[in-house]
Amino acid sequence: MALIEKDLEALEKTERDFLAPPFLPRKPIPDLGLERIEGERFYSPEFMEQEWKHVWTKTWQLAIHETDLPEPGSFFVYEFGRESFLFTRDKKGVARGFYNICQHRGNVLCQAPEGQAESISCPFHGWEWNIDGTLKDVADPQFFRQFDNGIPVDDLGLQQVRTDSWAGFIWFNMDDNAMPLRDFLGEAGQHLESYELEKRSYMDQQSFEWKGNWKHAVDAFNESYHFLALHPDMVEFGEGHDVPIELHGIHSRMMNYNATVSELVDERDDMTPLREHMMARREPADSPLRNVAAKDVHLEIIKTKRAMENDTYLPYKKMNDEQLVHQYHYTFFPNTTFTQTPEHGVIFRYRPHATDPNICYYDFIIMAYLPPGSTPPDVVPETHSHGDHEHYAAAFKGTFDPILANVLRQDGSNMETMQRGVKSKGFKGMILCDQEIRLRHFHQTIDQYISGEIDPQNPPV
Ligand code: FES
Ligand SMILES: [Fe+2]
Repeated sequence: MALIEKDLEALEKTERDFLAPPFLPRKPIPDLGLERIEGERFYSPEFMEQEWKHVWTKTWQLAIHETDLPEPGSFFVYEFGRESFLFTRDKKGVARGFYNICQHRGNVLCQAPEGQAESISCPFHGWEWNIDGTLKDVADPQFFRQFDNGIPVDDLGLQQVRTDSWAGFIWFNMDDNAMPLRDFLGEAGQHLESYELEKRSYMDQQSFEWKGNWKHAVDAFNESYHFLALHPDMVEFGEGHDVPIELHGIHSRMMNYNATVSELVDERDDMTPLREHMMARREPADSPLRNVAAKDVHLEIIKTKRAMENDTYLPYKKMNDEQLVHQYHYTFFPNTTFTQTPEHGVIFRYRPHATDPNICYYDFIIMAYLPPGSTPPDVVPETHSHGDHEHYAAAFKGTFDPILANVLRQDGSNMETMQRGVKSKGFKGMILCDQEIRLRHFHQTIDQYISGEIDPQNPPV
């Protein structure tokens, strides 16, 4: 057993039932076989097409934050793969999602990214729709013999897409017969309700264009085996070596340890400037955290937060001891990751390119609990094109620590080289270890959606 796990097990436990069961003691990792994962799935247009048909059009997708539609008449466009979606809030405050497509000749209808309007008209011939999606006006209807007996208003309304809300976000599913969102999120979704996610404020969203397939990006963040080689700084203030992992139906979770020093580091006790910055910079000078070995800071944090659980707006009461300090990392199939500390959360969303399997978009969404009475910022998502290595630190305007932005830059640095490498004649397929079991599980789940082995309207969750 890892040393950190021994320390956590020795800590006096809070005996209570929590929405999210702890990872420790560990449950065994299921045996999903040892087969290599072939490279073609990362670049083949045919595989991309299969994914669109069997995965993207059948699964729930996190789209926009509720506050992207702040008032009646708000609209917001969300681009996803080959589709463009238009989300609106009508006069009564009801939010809806539509395919952002003109019903005349199929032009993309709303070409402004967001705004306020009573109606939206197509720039081509001027057909117009109310903000609730009903048809408002057809230009020169007398030219259409089809309308001799009246305009078929119902048939010409904007095509709606099914939506639901969870965690403060509007989600959609292109399959009208899909299971309800909460059922789809399953047990893993119930775990996360311990964080009272809807109480968190939307702080920032930055998107990065990466020259790699979207699955390389999912894979990059679903294992910690790469920490030592790729992120040598991170082992100074956390432990990602041999972490607990669980599979929950088509979804999965893992825990990374915060506020400790990895066992891979020889000297684990001194509070170096980097350790101090990452573990204790927000703590008062007389905090007990400063009197313990650096590797034990996490144990002190658990005690401190548990003692204050009745006196804080943060939902510590609902969190098990591990959650009070460590990183709970959940990925919902196929492309949404929630990773959180008790005070903050980041959502990673991976979007395919419209036509090119060699490009994806990585969306980085920052959430935080603000003290009652605070006003959250007005977030305008930004997209950064590939190739500018400086953009990671500059992108987050004070919303993300520069040391962690550099970690993100390191993660992004492999996308183009992975995309190139899996196409090589010299590549025999990925050989994955148990610390990479979430990757194996993810690729097998995609295969099972494509083959029909998983019923997309009733997946195991
Ligand atoms: S294509 Fe939109 S009005 Fe003609
Ligand atoms: Fe990483």
